[in-house]
Amino acid sequence: MAMMIRNFELSDTDSIVEILKMNSQYGFPEVDGPEAMKRVKNCSAAIFLVCEIDGENVGVVRGNYDGSRAIIHQLSVHPAYQRRGIGTALVKEIVNRFQQMGAPTVSAMVSEKGLPFWEKVGFRKTKAFLVGNW
Ligand SMILES: CC(C)(COP(=O)(O)OP(=O)(O)OC[C@H]1O[C@@H](n2cnc3c(N)ncnc32)[C@H](O)[C@@H]1OP(=O)(O)O)[C@@H](O)C(=O)NCCC(=O)NCCS
Repeated sequence: MAMMIRNFELSDTDSIVEILKMNSQYGFPEVDGPEAMKRVKNCSAAIFLVCEIDGENVGVVRGNYDGSRAIIHQLSVHPAYQRRGIGTALVKEIVNRFQQMGAPTVSAMVSEKGLPFWEKVGFRKTKAFLVGNW
């Protein structure tokens, strides 16, 4: 199994939408859909990575570092490929990239369901939580 983590390309769009849909992470297409992906790709503060196994896209992670805080906004692994270390590899790579950019800390936007994974990869629950205007 040849795993590769690389920068997002526009040709990845459809397969990523499919992965997000399978994981019920596509509730807001205006936030996570093709047009948003294009904007994120062009944003210099953003890191947007895709994991490929034998040529098939199986996972995605994205986040941004604005010179102060780095935050991972989205992580999703194809259901058929979960529990094989792909989520861990994606988090390691984006954290490395943020550190190379100078980020002192990295936070992540997570759901209660995802917490065991995040704790396994070295993140801990903080007192801060997310509020939204949606
Ligand atoms: C959460 C998610 C990204 C994890 O990706 P993954 O590739 O399956 O994770 P890994 O294989 O690297 O898991 C590493 C460890 O995390 C823990 N872990 C992962 N998924 C878990 C789960 N569903 N329940 C409990 N622990 C879990 C385990 O300890 C696992 O090690 P193990 O398989 O040896 O027991 C993936 O399950 C996913 O995309 N889920 C749907 C979307 C989602 O919840 N995204 C995160 C939003 S917060």
